[in-house]
Amino acid sequence: MATIFEPFRIKVVEPIRVTTRAEREQALEKAGRNLFRLDADDVLLDWLTDSGTSAMSQEQWAGIMRGDESYAGSRSWHRFEKTVRDLTGFAHIVPTHQGRAAEHLLFSLVGGEGKVIPNNTHFDTTRANIEMTGAQALDIPCAESADPALEAPFKGNIDLVALENVLADSPPGRVPLVIITVTNNSGGGQPVSLENLRGARALCDRFGVPLYLDACRFAENAWLIREREAGQSERTPREIAREMFSLADGCTFSAKKDAFANIGGFLCTNDDELAREERNLLILTEGFPTYGGLAGRDLEAIAIGLTEVLAEDYLAYRLASVRYLNDRLHEAGIPVMRPAGGHAVYLDAGRFLPQIPAHEYPGQSLAIELYLKGGIRGCEIGTVMFGRAGAEGEPDQPAAHELVRLAMPRRVYTQSHVDYAIEKIFDVWERRDALRGVRITEQPPFLRHFTAVFEPL
Ligand code: F0G
Repeated sequence: MATIFEPFRIKVVEPIRVTTRAEREQALEKAGRNLFRLDADDVLLDWLTDSGTSAMSQEQWAGIMRGDESYAGSRSWHRFEKTVRDLTGFAHIVPTHQGRAAEHLLFSLVGGEGKVIPNNTHFDTTRANIEMTGAQALDIPCAESADPALEAPFKGNIDLVALENVLADSPPGRVPLVIITVTNNSGGGQPVSLENLRGARALCDRFGVPLYLDACRFAENAWLIREREAGQSERTPREIAREMFSLADGCTFSAKKDAFANIGGFLCTNDDELAREERNLLILTEGFPTYGGLAGRDLEAIAIGLTEVLAEDYLAYRLASVRYLNDRLHEAGIPVMRPAGGHAVYLDAGRFLPQIPAHEYPGQSLAIELYLKGGIRGCEIGTVMFGRAGAEGEPDQPAAHELVRLAMPRRVYTQSHVDYAIEKIFDVWERRDALRGVRITEQPPFLRHFTAVFEPL
């Protein structure tokens, strides 16, 4: 089938207000040219994030009605726990209100001064939750991940040589665990291979260190393994996912991604003592261990979503749709991170707008233009987000890459919306020489990308 077929039909619609360029100019001005500050009603395609923005299925909505809101031991909890255990095989399942709450519980207990926690690439909340305890969050992605243009199947892999060196050089206890993010969101939504996970497992066994997964996008990772890894094409996504989890001793999970839920998460471990401490802390910060930070109805929606996300027709469509957007842009010579990853397309703003230096924020300029041209909201992942503000009168210290992430919510937009985005990106590409940078006129001391105010240069 050449046409990308969405394996669902639409029962409830959410209108999109079609705005004019003049209206968008006004909205942008009011938002200080920061797309985070826009009202969602002023956006046509909201590709800011794929997190918590999925469309739930009729089964999930029915589950919402069936939600058991008993404080302790609810039916919904039992369903949730069984589903997560059948999928992951982990002994202990701790529900949390979202992924970062799971990270906070875990790293409050295993982090601390002098500790080092390696990952392929830590997501920002993971890094922050580790650093908050005084521990070091260490990124050791594979070498291929450094070049956005390079075609390689598993650019999300962890660098096993670097991992071996860290483990060999650390006295016992310094590395409390190794974590691998599937897919590697901060590294472009690129997948991690089973071979790489097996390699990490072997190293962790050799040095007696537990291995965890940051499993937010486990199903997309499993499908990319099936498509790209030798010997995997006949296995079901569920079998592959189960093998991924079986190689780990625990995981953190945000149900806002590959569980099609609007909120939720969990933390898993096979360590009885750690689980006991996690539950004690959970009661303090999230809630009783059979609901965590969630309502019974959320537990239902997550349990159902975790099953639906492994359907082959869904995953085939999902990954084909992201690849379609990536490939059409790439064929037109537009610089994008290659190959297509799982949940987003990353425009390489550094190469798209070579006339704009990093300290004049090419990613922000491109994100602004995509909004003005087509009402498309993406997210700058470059010097605004990861650079360091320069001292008075000095330029910023640039980030490693200048990217704009277009993250696609699951089951929300149709292929015509994707074609519309391609048309608008082509328009911006046509007149890229006319684009100029921006400057920051107001910024907070940290996480400036959320609230900074910009002015055109
Ligand atoms: N880990 C990864 C890899 C993530 O992408 C995210 C969230 C989290 C952990 C935290 O989960 O939001 O439920 O607390 N990523 C979103 C994004 C926010 O836009 O990429 P959370």
